[in-house]
Amino acid sequence: MSNRILVAPSILSADFSRLADEIRRVEEAGADWIHCDIMDGHFVDNISFGPAVVKTVRKLTTLPLDVHLMIKHADHFVPRFVDAGANSMTVHVEPEAEHDVGKTLRQIRAAHCRAGLTLNPATPFQLIEPFLGQIDLLLVMTVHPGFGGQSFRADQMGKVRRAHGWKTENNSNIDIEVDGGINRETARVAIEHGANVLVAGTAIFKARDYTAEIRALRGK
Ligand code: DX5
Ligand code: ZN
Repeated sequence: MSNRILVAPSILSADFSRLADEIRRVEEAGADWIHCDIMDGHFVDNISFGPAVVKTVRKLTTLPLDVHLMIKHADHFVPRFVDAGANSMTVHVEPEAEHDVGKTLRQIRAAHCRAGLTLNPATPFQLIEPFLGQIDLLLVMTVHPGFGGQSFRADQMGKVRRAHGWKTENNSNIDIEVDGGINRETARVAIEHGANVLVAGTAIFKARDYTAEIRALRGK
C-alpha cells in the first residue's frame, strides 16, 4: 500500500512522573500523533485521566492529539476535550456507551475535530457500517479496552479488511487505525490487512530506543 503508515504512541504506558520528557522523546523519535486513552471506570473497568491532562499534553507537543473516549455519555464531554486541544476524537459504538452515535459524530465535526468511531472485539462490524460515511477515522480495537499490555487479537483482522474494502470501493480517505497489542510483528499483520494508523503503548514506551521501535512498527 502506498499510504504512509502513521504511528500514535499511547501515553497510557508512558512514565507519568516524566511526562514532558516522554512526549519530547516520542516526538523526536518520529511519532505522528499522540494517542490519549480516556477511561471512566464505567464503560471500561479502569480510570485513566481526563481533559486537564490532555490540556497539559497539548502544551507539550505540536503533534495532533488523538483522543480515544472509552466513556459513557461521550457527548457530554466532547466540548471539554475540544477545549483541551484534541484534534481527533474517537467514540465507541456499543449501546453501553449510552449516547446517540450519529449525533456525537456530528458534534465532534462541528467542533472542527476529526470524528472517529470504534468497536470492541466482541462487537460485530455491522454496527459501525451505517456510520462509515460520517467519520474520518475508524478504530478497530485489537484488545478488549481498559488496559495496556494485552495480547493482539488477530481475529479482528477481518474487520480491518472489510473497512479497507469499503474505503477502496467508496474512494474514501478515512484512516483505519488499530489499537491494542501492537508490536513489530502484529503491526505487520495489521498493515497487511489495510490499517494505516498504529496505536502502540507498551511496545514504544517499554522500548529502550523509541526511534528504532517506531521505525520498526512502520516496517522500515
Ligand atoms: C486499551 C487502550 C490502548 C492501550 C494500548 O484500552 O485503548 O490504547 O493503551 O496499549 P498496548 O499497546 O500496550 O496494548
Ligand atoms: Zn486507545
